[in-house]
Amino acid sequence: MTVTLADPDFYSALPSIIGTGSADPYPVYAWLRANRPLCRDASGVWLASSHALVTRILEDARFSARMPPSATPFDDALGYTDMIVFQNGAEHDRLRRFLAPLFSRKALAALQAFIDDEIARLVERLRDTPRFDLVADIASVLPVRTICRLLGFPDAHGARYLEASTGAWQLISGAPLAPAERMSAITQTEAFLAQVESFIAGIDPDAMPDHAASRFLHLEREGGIGRREMLVNILFLFIAGYGTTLLSIGNGLAALLRAPRAWQALRADPALVPQAVRELYRHDAAVQAVFRYAWEDVEIDGQRIRRGELVVPLLGAANRDPAAFDAPDEIRFEREAGRSLTFGAGPHSCMGLALARMQLESLLRSLLAHMPDLRLAPGPQVRQQHGSFHGYDRLVLERAGG
Ligand code: HEM
Repeated sequence: MTVTLADPDFYSALPSIIGTGSADPYPVYAWLRANRPLCRDASGVWLASSHALVTRILEDARFSARMPPSATPFDDALGYTDMIVFQNGAEHDRLRRFLAPLFSRKALAALQAFIDDEIARLVERLRDTPRFDLVADIASVLPVRTICRLLGFPDAHGARYLEASTGAWQLISGAPLAPAERMSAITQTEAFLAQVESFIAGIDPDAMPDHAASRFLHLEREGGIGRREMLVNILFLFIAGYGTTLLSIGNGLAALLRAPRAWQALRADPALVPQAVRELYRHDAAVQAVFRYAWEDVEIDGQRIRRGELVVPLLGAANRDPAAFDAPDEIRFEREAGRSLTFGAGPHSCMGLALARMQLESLLRSLLAHMPDLRLAPGPQVRQQHGSFHGYDRLVLERAGG
């Protein structure tokens, strides 16, 4: 059956938005916001699509990414719920305080020079190439090297960790997986954790005290964290910092190059780059949705969400809500981007926001300086939805003069 947005049956037939592989979810979001800003899809999952509702749910401690304790045992083979994003209350505060120094001004300033050097190297290599794949050549390299540096992993390990983290990425994306795919994702994830464990077994935490791996080891020795909890949180930092940044680079560049006036404005005034990056993040978020379970019955907008029910705040829909942003489908550098929900909101808002920004800002400055004639190559450039994540697997760019 084909269901159109104008179809009165659309609501009752609404498929699960997450995992449908939609290349352009924005028309569906617009319909939802206007007609059913809080509704249930065909599988019974609640979808929140207005900016006000998404913000409210993210800030409400009665909703958690972790399922509430219940009689039904939760399948948590990976110790998933030990990751920071699934923690609540004091346990969550404790982990967040522990991780905060990794993202301090001082720590990020130390990473800036590394990021600039990496970008200079990557862009230099492509300088005489008339056409390249932004994802393969830059977006999938820079974030993994940055995250390895942040974690204290040797740069040479990046590719190995990357391969082994694919399974965890699939698991955390919320995309529907067949049992065999799920098993293979778990096997890969265990391989990642084993590699990290064998690496940290060989390091002296006093030799590099500022690195994340050393800080985790110290915390473990003090009895502040268990081995499994440490490993899954290192894994979380890796996938949170890698895949999201990769997708954001592609989404940002694609949107910018589709709006030649915006690209020209940046060429004319590169001082606009920080504003541009904020606006590009709002316009096409890499994380389109997050997941929350109600820990008690909650009444919202005259509807009752019952304890244990799953709610999906659609960040991508909230970011295009005309009630929060004028002409939300347009890219406007001058807009007040403070309300963007790309990095979440409330207690679990993203810790790596500044680090992600640094990478895209630095990359844009370099591309504007060295490849001002960049444009999208003709032909389809297909954006994919991997569960709640959204971006390009491949984005071919070319030089106008090439
Ligand atoms: C453009 C890139 C990024 C985007 C779009 C993004 C997005 C998000 C979002 C939406 C959340 C909230 C999840 C939720 O509420 O369930 C989040 C949490 C988080 N992000 Fe990011 N992120 C990005 C980059 C990074 C980087 C580079 C790091 C660093 C390693 C990072 C670390 C984290 C952490 C630790 C949390 C969990 C915070 C908590 O639970 O208290 N993120 N991110």
